[in-house]
Amino acid sequence: MSNNTEEQLTQNVLDSMAQAPNPRLKTVMTSLIRHLHACIREVDLTQEEWMSGIQFLTRTGQMCDDKRQEFILLSDVLGVSMQVDAVNHRSLDGATESTVFGPFYREGAQELPLGATISKDGRGEPLVMTGQVLSSDRKPIANALLDVWETNENGLYEQQDPEQPDMNLRGKFRTDSEGRYTFMGIKPVSYAIPDDGPVGQLLRALGRHPFRPAHIHLLVSADGFVPVTTHLFVKGDKYLASDAVFGPKDSLIVDFIRHDSTEEAARYHVTAPFYTVEYTFVLKPIGK
Ligand code: BEZ
Ligand code: FE
Repeated sequence: MSNNTEEQLTQNVLDSMAQAPNPRLKTVMTSLIRHLHACIREVDLTQEEWMSGIQFLTRTGQMCDDKRQEFILLSDVLGVSMQVDAVNHRSLDGATESTVFGPFYREGAQELPLGATISKDGRGEPLVMTGQVLSSDRKPIANALLDVWETNENGLYEQQDPEQPDMNLRGKFRTDSEGRYTFMGIKPVSYAIPDDGPVGQLLRALGRHPFRPAHIHLLVSADGFVPVTTHLFVKGDKYLASDAVFGPKDSLIVDFIRHDSTEEAARYHVTAPFYTVEYTFVLKPIGK
């Protein structure tokens, strides 16, 4: 144990955890130590680089408060959040694919009647979203809950923007007896994730941009089914192939169809141009 040479050191750290009472913690830490030590040896990490890493993580922690979670943002831009999502959703059985949750969800959005809008300030281009929630065997799920949130047309979530009404562009909707839903929102826009902190510095240092492709967030759930946290992305968005947080999956990229007819718009009590999108969500029964 006293022979802490480069070769022996990794094994000595692993041996030090031999009596760890929590076997899962031991498994995770064993793998983490192996990979961390291998990385240091692979790149011949200098003392200065090690110190700037420590300072970066310190600044990341100092940036966190009840409104800002810089560590989750770091996990997101490093693809860690999406990797965790991937290993936890290996068997979908036809269920809707999930993607990153993001830091802008708020509990307590109002439940609204089908057909209502989540826009409280009328800004942005109107969007009519319709579809159905089905189980893996394609049977409609009545009373499923869709909890939705999106940015305003300026790319900001309401808690980032003092100009927006509280809980703007958030709402919950329940499917009808045929599993159908309709609600209104606004056409999503692409936007930059918060880049005024250490994560933004890292992105710039890596020659990366902070943008996410336009999307609307949905958390779809129903009694007896595995809930899905997902987005619908706007087909054709220029950031789909370079999302700062690696969120897009092909099955979640959909056509947001533009309509210019004023007669059609009047039918939905909106003004032209407006957009429609249709999507079927599929949930997997719990335990299957
Ligand atoms: C979002 O889509 O809201 C989001 C996801 C990850 C990081 C930042 C924002
Ligand atoms: Fe988002």
